[in-house]
Amino acid sequence: MELPFAESFKIKMVEPIFRSTLNERELWLKEARYNLFNLKAEQVYIDLLTDSGTGAMSDRQWAELMLGDESYAGATSYYKLKATIEEIFGFPYFLPTHQGRAAENVLMSTLVKQGDIIPGNSHFDTTKGHIEFRKATAFDCTIQEAFDTSLLHPFKGNIDLEKLEQVLRSYPRERIPMIIVTVTCNTSGGQPVSMQNLREVKAMADKYGIPVCFDSARFAENAYFIKLREPGYAEKSIREIVAEMYSYADMATMSAKKDGIVNMGGFIGFKDEELFRRATTYNIMFEGFITYGGMSGRDMNALAAGLKESTTFEYLETRIKQVEYLGQKLLDFCIPIQQPVGGHAVFVDALKFLPNVPREEYVAQTLALELYLEAGVRGVEIGTLLADRDPVTRQDRYPALETVRLAIPRRVYTNNHMDVVAVALKNIWDRRDEIRRGYRIAWEAPIMRHFTVQLEKLS
Ligand code: F0G
Repeated sequence: MELPFAESFKIKMVEPIFRSTLNERELWLKEARYNLFNLKAEQVYIDLLTDSGTGAMSDRQWAELMLGDESYAGATSYYKLKATIEEIFGFPYFLPTHQGRAAENVLMSTLVKQGDIIPGNSHFDTTKGHIEFRKATAFDCTIQEAFDTSLLHPFKGNIDLEKLEQVLRSYPRERIPMIIVTVTCNTSGGQPVSMQNLREVKAMADKYGIPVCFDSARFAENAYFIKLREPGYAEKSIREIVAEMYSYADMATMSAKKDGIVNMGGFIGFKDEELFRRATTYNIMFEGFITYGGMSGRDMNALAAGLKESTTFEYLETRIKQVEYLGQKLLDFCIPIQQPVGGHAVFVDALKFLPNVPREEYVAQTLALELYLEAGVRGVEIGTLLADRDPVTRQDRYPALETVRLAIPRRVYTNNHMDVVAVALKNIWDRRDEIRRGYRIAWEAPIMRHFTVQLEKLS
């Protein structure tokens, strides 16, 4: 008999979590104004709000904390991280930042001005926020296949090259400061970008003289999918695949809270020294001196170790198989999800799940709230609340997909927890016809409203 698959780690430290009653959850949700971001973490049993900064560090990473050098300038921890980033990504220059959006802030302060156009596969919300804040336009060139959740396509994160060329042809070079490729593409469901697509995007960018930036939060998960799904890569190591991926990038922003497996941190990688110099001024203003940015020395050490761990096949296989495990359970219950299952999360198709709830009443948010009520499981809406209003008309913009994302923290939960999540959704699925009303907005912020929005229940 073939031995079954099991995790590539054993557990050294645990943290208790608690179940609650339906009555408690109803009260807490009301107090939280039906916004899951407002819940106290202790009111949540299984927290799948995000895989960002919520992972478990390894014993090696914890050991590295003790070796951190907290010198203001020239810390050994900075040089350790610098060497690791150059080794893995091939960037000779880098700036540490406190997290991914800080890297975006620094890079966009350097490159983006009012009226600019920034095309990409599908920008993440903070990326879009930083672009729109500067009165520039984030333009998604998502492939059409990504919008059909039941279509099995191996690389739904790919950029539509025709859409991209259309943009590059329509605007002068100086209005397109960069193309951003998000690997894996969070917005379209944690879906990977193929090596071929990265290569073709770079060739097109070179033709028009425009630099390419990778939003790299889940770069290692992207490399894993290339190894498994793209012809010619099965025999290559994750490190070799990552090295080729980044041969097609001029720069990168990184939220180290994902594939860096640290609780806080980020960086910008550059190949061009001149651009690095320009960005340095903003980094010093917003984040900190060149050799620490927004990070403490110990955290830079832990990140260097995390990057080495996340680029091993054993780690990635354990990680992604757990996400697939949850996805398969849901499929077995006939629950509509984005397929194939992405790298960091399962995305439940809320429009198919709750067809009776009107679109104006925030369908995915309604499902996310039901899931919390059912079992104390916290997911997150990736739908109309997140898509926010059109910056010009101020009307809600309805994205093609309305999903609830169940993001799995790295090395935190067991498959027993995944079983609880799956059964909770199955129970809601069985009573889905009774769910006919959603929510209305009582208060919203002018930008990035989903974090702080307050809702009222409609009946
Ligand atoms: N880019 C991508 C693709 C992301 O998913 C995120 C964060 C960021 C940039 C910003 O990084 O949080 O370190 O400032 N995503 C988290 C999530 C918040 O839940 O998907 P950050």
